[in-house]
Amino acid sequence: MTKRPYFYFMESKEEITRLEIKTDPVAVRRQALWCGVKPGLRVLDAGCGPGKTTDILYKMIQPRGEILGVDYSEARIAYAQDRYGHVPNMDFLLGDLRDPLNGIGPFDLIWVRFVLEYNRNESASIVGNLTSFLKPDGCLCLMDLDNNSLTHYPLTTGTAEVLQAFVRRMEQDFDFDPFAGRKLYSYLYDLDFRDIQVEMAAHHLIYGDNMRKEERFNWMKKFEVILKKMPEVFDSYPGGIETFQEDISRFFKDPRRFAYTPLILCKGVKPRAGSSANR
Ligand SMILES: C[S@@+](CC[C@H](N)C(=O)[O-])C[C@H]1O[C@@H](n2cnc3c(N)ncnc32)[C@H](O)[C@@H]1O
Repeated sequence: MTKRPYFYFMESKEEITRLEIKTDPVAVRRQALWCGVKPGLRVLDAGCGPGKTTDILYKMIQPRGEILGVDYSEARIAYAQDRYGHVPNMDFLLGDLRDPLNGIGPFDLIWVRFVLEYNRNESASIVGNLTSFLKPDGCLCLMDLDNNSLTHYPLTTGTAEVLQAFVRRMEQDFDFDPFAGRKLYSYLYDLDFRDIQVEMAAHHLIYGDNMRKEERFNWMKKFEVILKKMPEVFDSYPGGIETFQEDISRFFKDPRRFAYTPLILCKGVKPRAGSSANR
């Protein structure tokens, strides 16, 4: 099979480290409980990154559970296999969720966290693809952020304008969706999923001195990667990129600042053949 070209907006040689550091096991377990992850299930971790979430979910589905992690990054799949994959019933597969990926199903539950946002133009077709890997009555769980990078206060006018410009460029030129969260419900609705439920949580909720060092690392790394991808956004920023980085770093250190990012969780049960609950 020929590999489709892909562009992953956050790609950098430190992406494995960023994902390992920023993934909060307590939050993942809370989200997974809401999704109905429990012992004995066969689960697909779609867009598994370096396998940290796969490992957390694996422990929650024991005894007798099985999990497959799929990602289109060779580096992240190799790392996941090496770091987490030496246990029975956990496998990793190099694959693109935009492709049919024949023969990997069926699954009781498919977990898709922070993946559709990197596939703005193909999110709906990926969700359709994933649905075909679910058992009848299987559960599809979609999780993405909304208003990504836009919810910081107080910002100077210049900083706010730069963030708005980022977001526009992410959407137009990098297939990234800063508003992916609000779209999840419609994907399941359009495919006639049953018992659709939506939950909203704060992925980031930062004020006073409560910013974890992992969160600070993640934000600064995010900006570092983004800045390299669209340096022209800073042409009109007084002092250019370096000053922007200093300003944003000062913002995160200021105990008066307030920042949040909504995480939308959406789950539904696969419709039986021939049913059309939502039309
Ligand atoms: C931000 S990471 C999220 C990792 C993990 N799901 C989590 O919640 O921490 C996004 C991952 O999705 C993968 N990804 C994005 N689009 C993909 C696609 N079309 N097919 C396979 N993997 C994809 C990327 O390579 C990356 O490892």
